[in-house]
Amino acid sequence: MSKLFVFDHPLIQHKLTYIRDKNTGTKEFRELVDEVASLMAFEVTRDLPLEEIETETPVAVAKTKVLSGKKLGLIPILRAGLGMVDGILKLIPAAKVGHIGLYRDPETLQPVEYYAKLPSDIEERDFFVLDPMLATGGSAAEAIASLKKRGAKNIRLLCIIAAPEGVEFVQKAHPDVDIYVAALDEKLNDHGYIVPGLGDAGDRLFGTK
Ligand code: PRP
Ligand code: URA
Repeated sequence: MSKLFVFDHPLIQHKLTYIRDKNTGTKEFRELVDEVASLMAFEVTRDLPLEEIETETPVAVAKTKVLSGKKLGLIPILRAGLGMVDGILKLIPAAKVGHIGLYRDPETLQPVEYYAKLPSDIEERDFFVLDPMLATGGSAAEAIASLKKRGAKNIRLLCIIAAPEGVEFVQKAHPDVDIYVAALDEKLNDHGYIVPGLGDAGDRLFGTK
């Protein structure tokens, strides 16, 4: 079974409070999502492998470390996942970014894929799938399945807020994919919204309604 990590770093939790606040406007909401994504990237990359190299400083040769594992790929689920991309690229600028477009049918709550454009060297990369919201889990599970179908092997899922229902759904569908969140909320409501959540992440990021 895959693992669930909840990031309790004080800066993440503080910023999440203002992300949730209904009085936070689009500009600030976008900035906060960007900052939380950076902080989550810092936490999620703790176990990346390193190798030792020698570096000449102005004084002497030092034994230093550089990243040595597979290259990384970021896969935001459109739209709302886009809000997390820049914050992560600030820390991992060499990552390639693929896009998977999914929307959730408001009647059935089932994900519908409308777009997929992924890096061509998919088998040489490890992937972070990005979506601020993990509600029923349908969108994330579908995006992960779509990535796997095209050859991706090592995948992690990063979401800002998750519902227990979504975590369980993704864990059952993809037991090899660990899930990283800033908060695990209480439940879903009858419309598939996370309670207490933050409302509609895409609409709040892009100022639509
Ligand atoms: C939202 C959110 C997730 C999905 C989560 O996207 O960004 O992708 O819902 O719900 P699920 O776990 O029940 O699938 P939405 O479908 O509203 O599209 P948008 O990002 O274009 O607004
Ligand atoms: N998508 C959102 O944007 N918010 C929710 O609470 C659930 C799905």
